[in-house]
Amino acid sequence: MMVGKPVRQWRSICKGLILGALLTICMILLYCLSTSEVQFSLQEVPVPYSCAHRPSAAHSSPISNSSHHASGQRICTPKVDIMFMKTHKTASSTFLNILFRFGEKHHLKFAFPNSRNDFFYPSPFHRSQVKDYRPGMCFNIICNHMRFNAAEVAKVLPADTSYITILRDPADLAESSFHYFGRVVPLTWKLSGDDKLREFLTDPKLYYDPEGFNSFYLKNLLFFDFGQDNNLNPDDPKLDKAIQAIAKHFHLVMLVEHFEESLILLKDALCWDMEDLLFFKLNARKGSTVSKLTPELRAKALEWNAIDWKLYQYFNATFWHKVDAYGHERMARDVAELQSRNAEMASICIEGGHAVDAGSILETSMQPWQPIGEKSIMGYNLKKNVDKAHRKLCRKMLTPELQYLTDMGVNLWITRLWGHIREILHW
Ligand SMILES: *[C@@H]1O[C@H](CO)[C@@H](O)[C@H](O)[C@H]1NC(C)=O
Ligand SMILES: *[C@@H]1O[C@H](CO)[C@@H](O)[C@H](O)[C@H]1NC(C)=O
Repeated sequence: MMVGKPVRQWRSICKGLILGALLTICMILLYCLSTSEVQFSLQEVPVPYSCAHRPSAAHSSPISNSSHHASGQRICTPKVDIMFMKTHKTASSTFLNILFRFGEKHHLKFAFPNSRNDFFYPSPFHRSQVKDYRPGMCFNIICNHMRFNAAEVAKVLPADTSYITILRDPADLAESSFHYFGRVVPLTWKLSGDDKLREFLTDPKLYYDPEGFNSFYLKNLLFFDFGQDNNLNPDDPKLDKAIQAIAKHFHLVMLVEHFEESLILLKDALCWDMEDLLFFKLNARKGSTVSKLTPELRAKALEWNAIDWKLYQYFNATFWHKVDAYGHERMARDVAELQSRNAEMASICIEGGHAVDAGSILETSMQPWQPIGEKSIMGYNLKKNVDKAHRKLCRKMLTPELQYLTDMGVNLWITRLWGHIREILHW
């Protein structure tokens, strides 16, 4: 027949279109499933002052005292109740690995999310999001991504919990966030050039809409993570109040730029051991994809993220006051010790001694999660013949966040399904 061929062609085009539409709908549904949640109203039962399974002696001194006896014997007890507010793109995966190992060492109870690796971010935290939560339950540590909600967090942790968080220079953070999350923010899809970040920062108002889906990734992401309004006018008196509230809640605010100093302050505040601070840098971006901001763009990024900049400057000041109190010489000594012990661990554990591209990681259990459309996050290969004394520690220190969560019994089916679909689509 003469018309047979075009008709068949039309049919296959239609089929393709319908299939494409269905697939898109499925992806949107899945994305919604992975970002929304149902909230239950829960009975109010106060949290016990301490979690029952550990010795009550640990609670005799709520404020830790890191002074040492003349003999060098420690007189304080390690603090084990910890709220870590995991901010985005702030080396927090590295810190989580430290917390996971500390928690396992002391047999602590983590408040984990269910079915994915965050507490339904960007919805504000609610205790119903905690895996296996029942009213009156008490946990030692909460540390997965959440949008901070002080009142709800207080309902799952003991009263004397130490609240810790970490900040990063907002210009670098904006750059990193743009690179990592840009593709899930539809507002950026209009950007056409090679250097989308430059285009965006040159005139952000042209592209930005506070109502846009996932728009918080583009503006004052830190402030947003703390449960605040990231679109506030920087001159609004509410801003100072919010910063004061954060300062009141958090006992220690660490800085990415001074990660080791931060850990030493943490050790001092929580009465931990130097061993507890050992780390390898996890989830680091390949150097080639880190486009250094020019001074001009940096200024624009800070202006655009003026709230985060104010937040950062405030806690930069409190940070250095703490270092002053700790003593600069003592700090330098401790940082040097931590660095040399980390270097020693790297030579014991890591094949080649340094991080490698995703493509060169041999074990899938060592493969880090990648941003959409990229393979820019580096990982490690565990050395083959690590001696028995270090084998377990090496593996734990190198295990990426998602695999570690799975090892600790968190079911990540939504995260995994999303990962498989991306794998199939090579996205
Ligand atoms: C810590 O202990 C030392 C020595 O026992 C004591 O002098 C100091 O006041 C204590 N500090 C706190 C904050 O309890
Ligand atoms: C942080 O504080 C230190 C010490 O006061 C100061 O030298 C530095 O310029 C501050 N950095 C920022 C970004 O405010």
